[in-house]
Amino acid sequence: MRFDIITLFPSIFDGYLTQGHLAKAIQRDLVQIERHNLRDWAPETPHRPVDDKPFGGGPGMLIQVEPTVNCVEAVETMDMRPARRVLLTPQGRKLDQPMAEDFATNERVIVMCGRYEGFDQRVMDILQPDEISIGDFVLNGGEVAAMVLIDAVVRLLPGVLGDEQSNIDDSFSRGNRILEFPQYTRPREFRGHTVPDILLGGDHGAIAQWRAEQSQLRTRERRRDLLAKQNETLEELNLPNTSNPKSE
Ligand code: 6GU
Repeated sequence: MRFDIITLFPSIFDGYLTQGHLAKAIQRDLVQIERHNLRDWAPETPHRPVDDKPFGGGPGMLIQVEPTVNCVEAVETMDMRPARRVLLTPQGRKLDQPMAEDFATNERVIVMCGRYEGFDQRVMDILQPDEISIGDFVLNGGEVAAMVLIDAVVRLLPGVLGDEQSNIDDSFSRGNRILEFPQYTRPREFRGHTVPDILLGGDHGAIAQWRAEQSQLRTRERRRDLLAKQNETLEELNLPNTSNPKSE
């Protein structure tokens, strides 16, 4: 899979691309990540401007349509594979795990990172990108959001994670759209905080049941919205709800 990132700040990604699972995946050619500086498509005047004041007035500056469209079209010719276009903006559809799973099926994704007050509307009208947000808050630009998107997608690609099972057990992953149960490792006791006895007893059936209950409890406490969603899905599929029905 190939990502092309279009940004005014390519070096923001330096640390991210050189560490951990992502660096390994790049090294092993499981994913290719190319950065493109939008300013390279600016007019060749001393300041290489890519932004201007909004027509009609208002605060801040907008990224202009001409360098952006020229850049995206040029980047698209750099590889034969057709690219899905993504524009990161708080105006976009909120990213979730099913969307990340869908992105992971694409051979190539072009990611446009906004800065300032965003892009001229004609960027969206002409390029028709999928507009994606990572949540209901405002960032200084799309770069951190691009890292979030890429991180969520790359870890789904075959071979990227050491243990393929961990994808499936994670919160929000396929077949488990509720929160994870608590986990413990050594020592068995720290400052009076002990590991639940059931995890030490070796009864794998009992452990599985405890974990399922803990997932339900935790989700009920922290993310009731997810349980409502899960119930809707079960009803749609006409499947029984096997979660603990005792307490509401
Ligand atoms: Cl994708 N961009 C910006 N600038 N702010 C955001 C965002 C994106 N998602 C949430 N807030």
